[in-house]
Amino acid sequence: METLPTIAVLGGTGKEGPGLALRWAYAGYPIIIGSRQQEKAEATAAELNTSLNIHSIIGMENSRAARAADICVLTVVYTAHQAALESIRDDLQGKILVDATARVDFRDPKPPAPPSAARLAQELLGPAVRVVAAFQNVPAHSLRKNLGQALDSDVLVCSEDASAAQEVIRLAQAGGMRAYYAGGLDNAVVVEGLTALVIGLNKAYGTKTASIGVTGINR
Ligand SMILES: NC(=O)c1ccc[n+]([C@@H]2O[C@H](COP(=O)([O-])OP(=O)(O)OC[C@H]3O[C@@H](n4cnc5c(N)ncnc54)[C@H](OP(=O)(O)O)[C@@H]3O)[C@@H](O)[C@H]2O)c1
Repeated sequence: METLPTIAVLGGTGKEGPGLALRWAYAGYPIIIGSRQQEKAEATAAELNTSLNIHSIIGMENSRAARAADICVLTVVYTAHQAALESIRDDLQGKILVDATARVDFRDPKPPAPPSAARLAQELLGPAVRVVAAFQNVPAHSLRKNLGQALDSDVLVCSEDASAAQEVIRLAQAGGMRAYYAGGLDNAVVVEGLTALVIGLNKAYGTKTASIGVTGINR
């Protein structure tokens, strides 16, 4: 049987991180929840374990979580993007870092200016970290519902590292999402901008689950 990579969800104590963690744990991936505080990470891990009736999700401080994982997924609040990356730069060397950051203010949603968050991450972390941008348009609100079923949300995956992008596409699929390779890290600023659009759609239509879908590709 294939051994699944261990996933650390860094800043996995908020809204988006626990939802992704829940879906991957449900699919059998070993999961570590990361936080600036060990106790907070443990509390979220315990809550997720309870909801899945398992014991395998563990909580650790971000730095230890990053070191213990094969793939790290960054889900910190966007204003903490740089500070969080600086605090784990050494721990991420040689690993895949999935950046889910959309630099959009929920109260005043506007598309961010280039460079993309993921490009900034790549520059800050250096070439030995395999940065992949993904999940910026997947609503936290949808992730916790209907585990094991397909999510009505497509994932645009941007990276210069083709094999890292493929790993993240597999991860998205394991979580019930369709995922598409959408070019290099600079394209990810468009994906972040779509988050501003999605927040606007949520407000206009009184929902929390608006997302994006790709059409015209037969696979
Ligand atoms: N919410 C969504 O629907 C959604 C959808 C797609 C993508 N995203 C993206 O996912 C990311 C997380 O969104 P969210 O809604 O989950 O955010 P959130 O709940 O507001 O915060 C997530 C985590 O960020 C950490 N954090 C806060 N300040 C920090 C700091 N100064 N340094 C390091 N970590 C800090 C906290 O973890 P600790 O206190 O445990 O360290 C917190 O639990 C954002 O970049 C967002 O753009 C969100």
